[in-house]
Amino acid sequence: TSQDQSELKKAVAQAAVREIRPKLARDTVLGVGSGSTVNLFIEALAPLRDEFAGAVASSTETERRLKAIGIEVLDLNQTGTLSVYVDGADEIDGDFAMIKGGGAALTREKIVAACASQFICIADGSKYVRQLGGFPLPIEVIPMARSYVARQMVALGFSPVYRQGVVTDNGNQIIDLYDQLIDNAGDLETRINQIAGVVTNGLFAHRGADLLLLGTSDGVQRLTL
Ligand code: A5P
Repeated sequence: TSQDQSELKKAVAQAAVREIRPKLARDTVLGVGSGSTVNLFIEALAPLRDEFAGAVASSTETERRLKAIGIEVLDLNQTGTLSVYVDGADEIDGDFAMIKGGGAALTREKIVAACASQFICIADGSKYVRQLGGFPLPIEVIPMARSYVARQMVALGFSPVYRQGVVTDNGNQIIDLYDQLIDNAGDLETRINQIAGVVTNGLFAHRGADLLLLGTSDGVQRLTL
């Protein structure tokens, strides 16, 4: 049930705080992702707010929540390399490649992840899959390129759907690719990024997770590659 799922999310959020706590120093800046699991992580982080410098947020929503509990939000251009980035995923596979962007924050998430030495993925067990693609793969596009990108994706055998009414934090639009299991996530990530007008796609294969905290009914599993 969704009640159980939110318990699992809470458990992994707390596990992530236990994981990073020993690494926090006065000058530590954390990267913080987006979504319901991360929101629970932000809540769990609140008591530690005085033990580190601040955070870089991957969405305006995360920025708002961090500020609300008294964590300073910093500009990525002022921070350099981040020691750790904590984020959820829509799907994650055995190689720790992910589909992200269900919440439309994929571009900023990918940028902050790229700046971090370690990516800790926090997810309930339903996100762990044998093969990516059951969850629709998002592509952020420059608005004028939307139809062109969609036609290119049809030519590659995908079923693109315009996510109506959604504008990203960067003022762009989202196309979702439905019902296509993904064989080589790294190749597809690169290929989609080659299309003119694509800002980012939701495959995180080249920069996947380093550590997965997975919430299961038997407790939180701590998985490394
Ligand atoms: C946001 O754009 C996504 O990449 C999130 O990481 C993803 O949707 C996970 O969200 P939940 O924690 O709500 O499942």
